[in-house]
Amino acid sequence: MVIDFAPPSEGRSFVTDYVKSTSSVAPQEARVRPATSPSPASELSSGVPIISVEHVSLDYKKEKEPLPVLVDVSLAAFKDEFVVITGPSGSGKSSLLRIIAGLNKPTSGRVLFRGTPVTEPRQEVAMIFQNFVLLPWRTALENVLFGLASRKDIIEERKKDLAMMALENAGLKGFENVYPGELSGGMKQRVGIARALALEPQALLMDEPFSSLDDLTAEHLRRGIYSLLINPSSPIQTVIMVSHNVEEIVELADKVVVLSPRPGHVVGELTVDLPRPRNKKSKEFFDWVDMVYSLLA
Ligand SMILES: Nc1ncnc2c1ncn2[C@@H]1O[C@H](COP(=O)(O)OP(=O)(O)OP(=O)(O)O)[C@@H](O)[C@H]1O
Ligand SMILES: [Mg+2]
Repeated sequence: MVIDFAPPSEGRSFVTDYVKSTSSVAPQEARVRPATSPSPASELSSGVPIISVEHVSLDYKKEKEPLPVLVDVSLAAFKDEFVVITGPSGSGKSSLLRIIAGLNKPTSGRVLFRGTPVTEPRQEVAMIFQNFVLLPWRTALENVLFGLASRKDIIEERKKDLAMMALENAGLKGFENVYPGELSGGMKQRVGIARALALEPQALLMDEPFSSLDDLTAEHLRRGIYSLLINPSSPIQTVIMVSHNVEEIVELADKVVVLSPRPGHVVGELTVDLPRPRNKKSKEFFDWVDMVYSLLA
C-alpha cells in the first residue's frame, strides 16, 4: 500500500480518503475533562486502549536533589484515535513520549500496550523524534533500513521493500540513494518519518514532527499520516503526537491532553468533535483554535 503524501511542488496528490465522520459539536459544548475526573469514552474509544499511561511520574536524577518532571500523568489512546499532547516548553512532553515508547522508565506508574506493561521498546510502537539525527555516512534508504535492523521476523528482501515503500510514502521516491548531506532539512525530517513508518507500527509516536517543515510540506505530511491512521489496510491504529502548533492540533486531534508547566500534570483533556475533513478557514475551526489557545494560556 502506498499513500502518496508528497508535497504538490513535487507534482503529486493524495490517493487516499481524508474523511472521517464525527458528529459536530460546537467548541462551547466541547468536553474539557478536569485532570481528576474519570476519562470519558469518546465516540472513537472502545475496548482496551492501544496505549494507556497510568499515573506516570518522573524525576530526573540531579546531583543534589531530584528534578520532578511529570506528576501522576494518565491518558489513553484508543483505536483510530489521534491524540495530541501539548503544554509549555519543558513540561515533560518529550520525556513522556520516551516513556510511552519504552525508552525511559518512569519513577512511578506504568505504560501498557494493549494491556501489557511496556518495559522496553516494542516493535509495534515507533517514534519520530523531536531532534531526529540521520547517520551521515548512510543513504536515505540505508538510514531507513538501519531502523529495521532489529526486526528478526522478516527477511532482508522484505525489509528493503518496506523501506522503499516508506520512503515513497514520505514523498522521497527517487532520493533513496542520496546521503543526508545532500538532503534539505525537510527531506531529512521525512527520512525520519519514513524510518518510523517502515517499522509498520500499530502505534505511532511523533514529537513535533512537522515543526521544521515549510507549511505546504507539513500540511501534506499531516494529511498523509492521518490517512494512514484511518486506512484499514495500514497497520497504524493510533497516533500520539506532541505539538505546540494550535492550528495543527485542531486540524488533527480527536483528543488533546494539556500538560501544566513543569512538573507536568494533566490540566485538561479536550475531545475535538469537529467534523472531518476539517476546513481550516471555517468559523468553527477558528472557534476551536481559540478554545485550545485559552486552555494553553
Ligand atoms: N535526560 C535528562 N536529564 C535531566 N533532565 C532532563 C533530561 N531530559 C529532559 N530534562 C529536563 O526535563 C524537563 C522536561 O524536558 P522535556 O524535553 O521532556 O520537555 P518538553 O515538554 O518536551 O519541552 P519542549 O517543548 O521544549 O520540547 C526540562 O526541564 C529538561 O531540562
Ligand atoms: Mg520536547
